[in-house]
Amino acid sequence: MSERWPAAGAADGRGAIRVLVAHGEDAARDDIVAILRASARIEVVGVARSGDTTIALARKLTPDILLIDDGLPGGGGADTTERLGALLPAAAVILLASTLSADTLQRAMRAGARQIVPLPVAPGELLETIGQVHEALVARRAPTPAHAGRPAALAGQIVVVFSLKGGVGCTTVATNLAVAIRQEMGLRVALVDASLPIGDVGALLDLPSTTSVTDLVGLGGDDAAAVEDALLTHARSGVRVLQAPHRVELAETITGDLLRRTVETLRAHHEFVVVDTHAALDERVLPLLETADTILLALTQDMAALRSATVFLRIVELLGYPAGKVLPIVTRVGIAGGISTPEMAEALGRPLDRLIPTDERAVVRAINEGTPLMLSGRQTPVATAIVDLARYLVAATYPDAVAPLLMAQGGGARRGPLALFARG
Ligand SMILES: Nc1ncnc2c1ncn2[C@@H]1O[C@H](COP(=O)(O)OP(=O)(O)O)[C@@H](O)[C@H]1O
Ligand SMILES: [Mg+2]
Repeated sequence: MSERWPAAGAADGRGAIRVLVAHGEDAARDDIVAILRASARIEVVGVARSGDTTIALARKLTPDILLIDDGLPGGGGADTTERLGALLPAAAVILLASTLSADTLQRAMRAGARQIVPLPVAPGELLETIGQVHEALVARRAPTPAHAGRPAALAGQIVVVFSLKGGVGCTTVATNLAVAIRQEMGLRVALVDASLPIGDVGALLDLPSTTSVTDLVGLGGDDAAAVEDALLTHARSGVRVLQAPHRVELAETITGDLLRRTVETLRAHHEFVVVDTHAALDERVLPLLETADTILLALTQDMAALRSATVFLRIVELLGYPAGKVLPIVTRVGIAGGISTPEMAEALGRPLDRLIPTDERAVVRAINEGTPLMLSGRQTPVATAIVDLARYLVAATYPDAVAPLLMAQGGGARRGPLALFARG
């Protein structure tokens, strides 16, 4: 795995366990925060002194885990936990209890806390508990073979495939990547064709020209039911597709705001939202890049693509995106006379580990047949490279989940000796 790609607990927090600490007493809260800060796996995303602040911050920061003191001012720990259950069902609460009584246990259980930690607590014990609760959360978010017990709310990953230069393979990568994540890993995937004015995703997947993003004009992308209705499922893979406008003149009505909101809505019910874009940094692409968790920057082995990628990386710096947000991928690797990838990496100042070989025949045939290579030529080097990319992205997102996920079966109950309350 590339060293540039942050693993769990990296400085920018990607992959780290995101924790919010709520305690009314400054000294106790500081102690807890100090324990958490010593762990490389944990990122303290916020602290709160009251129930209301906890709710407000949780809404804004969407932590994975909340540590809440039972005696929290303004509602108390149990009430606050209950309010959070409705607001952030995907998060877990660990209740901190200074006095452990049958009453505290009962109230915590009813409110939906996952664990109770009696205070004072040894640092190692607290960290271990957080690790276990997180492990259970990840297991819950990962798909089960039986498709049972799907979590109601998720924050799926938004992967935007982009290049400032056209014709470098964005659509080919976006479409096949979506199919790969869906087929090989069984995750729920939405594929959004935000390539305007004309998108090719529908043609690559041989979809009928029925629904499209234009169905959402006037309704807005926040309307989950409308977004759901605008999707079309690609039957052979199960990827859910939001097509680009079928009539060029309607593309004008699609705003960046509509696209961004739609993608955000989709992430609630899909582990991955893959977005194909057109080659321009315009007011429609920028909001998508902003909201993306990962930008796959596609480039080919030629001067023009290299220059446009260099320009884009400079813009990314100006925009203040973390370096790890952009993952360059070289497509059509091996074309005659192409610049070598080490030379390109040198020029870009970035490692280039993600390489997709060239295979004109297979790729063009797949396009003409309307069957993505992932389905018609799974064993081709291009498809294999895209599956590798899919695994890489899934592993970066769900580091704890990917091993059992890739083993396919696994399943089974996870260890949780301290879990007082098994929920979900
Ligand atoms: N790995 C590849 N090998 C060979 N040709 C490719 C590969 N990926 C894309 N192409 C070709 O490049 C052209 C542009 O691909 P496309 O995915 O539409 O790029 P973009 O969306 O960036 O414009 C297509 O004709 C496609 O056949
Ligand atoms: Mg394209």
